[in-house]
Amino acid sequence: MNVFTHISEWNLPLPEIPSMPLADRLLMVNPAFFDVAYVINPHMEGQIGKVNRQKANNEWQKLVDLYRSLGLSVEVINGEQGLPDMVFCANQTLPFIRPNGEKGVFCAQMHAPERKPEVAFFKAYFARKGYQVRTLPSDNDSDFEGMGDALWHSGRRLLWGGYGFRTGLEVYKGLAQALDVPVLALELCDPEFYHLDTCMCILDESCVLVYPGAFQPQGLALIRKVFSRVIEAPEDEARRLFAVNAFCPNQKHVFIQNGCSETAMRLQLAGFMVISCETGEFIKAGGSVFCMKLHHW
Ligand code: ARG
Repeated sequence: MNVFTHISEWNLPLPEIPSMPLADRLLMVNPAFFDVAYVINPHMEGQIGKVNRQKANNEWQKLVDLYRSLGLSVEVINGEQGLPDMVFCANQTLPFIRPNGEKGVFCAQMHAPERKPEVAFFKAYFARKGYQVRTLPSDNDSDFEGMGDALWHSGRRLLWGGYGFRTGLEVYKGLAQALDVPVLALELCDPEFYHLDTCMCILDESCVLVYPGAFQPQGLALIRKVFSRVIEAPEDEARRLFAVNAFCPNQKHVFIQNGCSETAMRLQLAGFMVISCETGEFIKAGGSVFCMKLHHW
């Protein structure tokens, strides 16, 4: 399959794309070693040493409890000393399920040297569980940050791929071939929205939440062509409160940072049930709800 960056190239109606089950498992990493210890995105500037560990633990635990109270299955692995960003476990792999039911993950090639050692722990976890553990084709030395940038369309064998800051466009050719899926690639243009999951949150097959200012016009046009309902988060909530780094596990409930009131209202009007949660300590490191878990099969 191919990579598409422009609406003129894309004319496959959604119903013609094979369906795919929704992911039903969550993996999370205990934040015992979470911290801001270096600066690799603009949100981390001025935050070194400012994380309140106790507060971070409480925020994280509440999130786990909320997921479990909704009946979601959450597995927790330990963080590692010296890897303060490992808690953002959407970034080290891209999980997949093949039409024959085989499950696996593609390993990331982290952009920042500080984060590269995180990947091995996820590799080991998934290998132990019997998943296929894949790396990008060997001729591909571009960066790739897993589900930070690569998002599955809800219920379809279609991948959305952000590129520009943490992931290179070239990566998606290999993924499209290896997974036999089309990839709709979107260039990111604002360093505060350095991962696709900071500016695009897929809610269901036809509905998406975005912060439009993070995209180039041709990317936005692709989004509007595929999704019949595009909810926009206001700039302030998207930039300061990571409103779009929300998480919709089941096409119905949306977990989102506290204080995103305008975004929450728009989600409710569109028929979603909004569940507010606190991730303030993690926002100091440049991440919120979506990147604090890995949704897989
Ligand atoms: N400090 C981490 C980094 O810059 C935060 C990652 C947040 N993850 C995300 N998917 N947005 O890599």
